[in-house]
Amino acid sequence: METKLIKIQNNDYSVLDSAAEVIKRGGLVALPTETVYGLGADALNADACRRIFQAKGRPGDNPLIIHICNIDSLEEYTDIKNSPDRELIYKLARTFMPGPVTMVLPKADIIPDEVTAGLDTVAVRFPSHPVAAQIIRRSGTPIAAPSANLSGSPSPTCVQHVINDLDGRIDMIVDGGKCEIGLESTIIMPQNGIIRLLRPGAVTMEELSEFAPVEADKALTSKLKEGERPLAPGMKYRHYAPHVPIVTVCGTDEAVCGFFRGKLRAPQVAVLCFEEYVEKLENNKNVFSLGSKNNADEQARLLFERLRQIDEHDDFEVVYAVEPCRSGIGFAVYNRLIKACGYEVICL
Ligand code: TXA
Ligand code: MG
Repeated sequence: METKLIKIQNNDYSVLDSAAEVIKRGGLVALPTETVYGLGADALNADACRRIFQAKGRPGDNPLIIHICNIDSLEEYTDIKNSPDRELIYKLARTFMPGPVTMVLPKADIIPDEVTAGLDTVAVRFPSHPVAAQIIRRSGTPIAAPSANLSGSPSPTCVQHVINDLDGRIDMIVDGGKCEIGLESTIIMPQNGIIRLLRPGAVTMEELSEFAPVEADKALTSKLKEGERPLAPGMKYRHYAPHVPIVTVCGTDEAVCGFFRGKLRAPQVAVLCFEEYVEKLENNKNVFSLGSKNNADEQARLLFERLRQIDEHDDFEVVYAVEPCRSGIGFAVYNRLIKACGYEVICL
């Protein structure tokens, strides 16, 4: 299949009509959002949604997020009219939508099982990226979109990542430059007056807890035991994992730097560390910067790009990564990193 690449020029969004046409006839379009690129299809068209799973090589038990372009359509695709949490849901929606948050809610009948993987809930997100919002509006239908990567590789944060993974497998790619956030949306499930956190992201626990108590799913910070399941089915997969094993290292700056220095004597070792460490490690070519220690936004933006870069080297046998600070969006960076590590952490 030939994949068409289009780009908006001079803020002229009319080129997006061709993307909307592809969606309307059941095709697949990769599109930019403020978090990561998504692989979109008409969420009300079961065949189109099935194609998403084929193109990504995605396991069938991992449900999709649907993307909408106004808060009013929440009630069209979910069943929250009589929910005791309705007020909380609307408070959260009015505060954080459009933006990098996804709400898991009881589903309306109109949503096909292909989207929800048979669950009785549906995940809904209203992206703030103008290109994503315009494509949804012009398509006249909600758009189901997982991240636009092959299953198992890190989510794409720029158009080249999408091309590398999906060129020839989908109808169209819309180039929208780099994604501003770089990590996928925060996923929450408001339930009985509590906000369950299924996946951390740019909307932080600290922000959410102003509305209701927040309960983080155990799967976010520790490996689940045999038979235990995360609330978001996708969180059980060892996503974001380069082909090389990664190990997270925690400790004081001096201890971690010293550890990295020792390990870097072997040429097959790579290190992913704070910008501040790079010089101390003599700018070794196997050292990759995750951004400044106190700039979690930068770390979020860089993490997936760095994992992909590291993955391009065939000669690395192991990667040691610094443990990021866990507050704010740093918690999301930490979560993605320890998942990539398969929860392997060395504490010095
Ligand atoms: O930022 C994002 O959320 C991006 C952009 C493209 O919007 N999308 C994204 O989709 O990250 P994906 O498919 O890569 O991740 C969706 C996650 C998976 O872990 C999936 O299991 C979970 O959302 N999910 C979807 N529907 C769910 C549901 N009904 N209940 C629980 N978890 C659900
Ligand atoms: Mg994904």
